[in-house]
Amino acid sequence: MNTILVGSQWGDEGKGKIIDVLTEEVDLVVRSQGGNNAGHTIVHGERKYILHLIPSGILRPKKVCVIGNGVVIDPIALVEEISGLRSQGIKVNGNNLLISQSAHIVMPYHRALDEAREQIKGKNKIGTTKRGIGPAYGDKAARVGLRMADLMRPEIFEEKLRLRLQENNLLLQSFGRKKLSFSKVFSQYQEAAVFLKPFLTNTVAYLHEAIAEKKKILFEGAQGTFLDLDHGTYPFVTSSNTTSGGACTGSGVPPNAIDSVVGVMKAYTTRVGEGPFPTEDRAMSCMLHEMGREFGATTGRARRCGWFDAVATSYATMINGINRLAITNVDGLDQLEKIFICTGYRLSGSRKILTIPPEDAQELAGCKPVYETMSGWMVPTSHLQCYCDLPLNARRYLERLAELTGAPLWMVSVGPGRHQTLWIK
Ligand code: GDP
Ligand code: IMO
Ligand code: MG
Repeated sequence: MNTILVGSQWGDEGKGKIIDVLTEEVDLVVRSQGGNNAGHTIVHGERKYILHLIPSGILRPKKVCVIGNGVVIDPIALVEEISGLRSQGIKVNGNNLLISQSAHIVMPYHRALDEAREQIKGKNKIGTTKRGIGPAYGDKAARVGLRMADLMRPEIFEEKLRLRLQENNLLLQSFGRKKLSFSKVFSQYQEAAVFLKPFLTNTVAYLHEAIAEKKKILFEGAQGTFLDLDHGTYPFVTSSNTTSGGACTGSGVPPNAIDSVVGVMKAYTTRVGEGPFPTEDRAMSCMLHEMGREFGATTGRARRCGWFDAVATSYATMINGINRLAITNVDGLDQLEKIFICTGYRLSGSRKILTIPPEDAQELAGCKPVYETMSGWMVPTSHLQCYCDLPLNARRYLERLAELTGAPLWMVSVGPGRHQTLWIK
């Protein structure tokens, strides 16, 4: 049984928590896109782990984690992440973490250009994580990227780095930024190369062997459907395919090896960074922030919050082929007397109601949500052990979300911990 898990909204749906729960039943967890722009939170009792590049399966002993060819890796950040986990007593070595030789590398000029481009855009900025993700994927598509295999061969790396620095230093200077020194970058990256060498392998071949041995694979999506480079709210998106197809290209595992697609979504909506967000609601943001929730796991930025958007999630079901739903953060709505669900968009200056999100970000920005109202449950839910213990109004709400989203409800999360998970029988 091989499963792709994707975010059905704008990222931060609670994928890390759900992956941690599902990892118990699988052999391998694979990241196939994105980079350290991701921040996946896992809470074990008093301990909190935030994973950026390493699959969330790493916390379970005996499971193998793979960083596939489609991921962009900042080697310095990856070394830090591995060292950080080790210092917390988590085993990370070449047996339980495998890294693709073909994965592209995020270079210091990618980070500097990400920042410079955001600055020059002014109020039209994307609100990126400034991790260099866009420029790194840009170089990959332009066929001038450096890959993990290059990093492992000092002469090749030196030659390619010299060339790339020539071009990128010119670019950086044109933005009024400092040039990068070859020797500094070279030595920093070669140090990371020595550290990472034992983890490198042909992950495509490894995954196909695992499939032949009938091992169970879980693909951990990063970001969310509406941050997808093709299907999201372009240009306010990330630079990879965050939807289920990205798991195949980013790992070399074909679509006919996939058995199911889990869509993770919050019981409300959040978005971090700029771009259209039809159901954004200031009161909802204030309520959640006052509860100490909804601050970004990677950048610490306050997330924008709003009502559940079923126009968006039903589209996500379609694009990803979602056939199981995991709804998280239900407890975030415990206090509310009335809850709104967006079931359509009213197009600006028209009486037309849309049930498919417009592809154009400008048009989407002009859409006004059409809501249906449901009664809240107004009691705490975080301590509950069974779906049937949820208040009737909570179950009605969740079942309505699943109906509108167009996929069966499979699990519900009422808190960040492993055990705060309710399965639907
Ligand atoms: P990811 O990027 O999709 O893995 O999500 P993040 O980790 O960035 O953000 C989700 C946040 O919600 C994290 O702080 C999680 O610990 C937290 N979380 C996940 N599920 C639940 C839940 O059901 N209830 C509560 N209270 N927090 C949750
Ligand atoms: P996880 O995996 C939420 C957003 C950024 C910005 C846009 C582009 O934790 O769900 P980038 O740095 O990728 O060029 O930024 O995408 N973004 C995320 N938002 N969760 C994420 O990851 C995100 N990764 C990127 O805020 O709007
Ligand atoms: Mg996150």
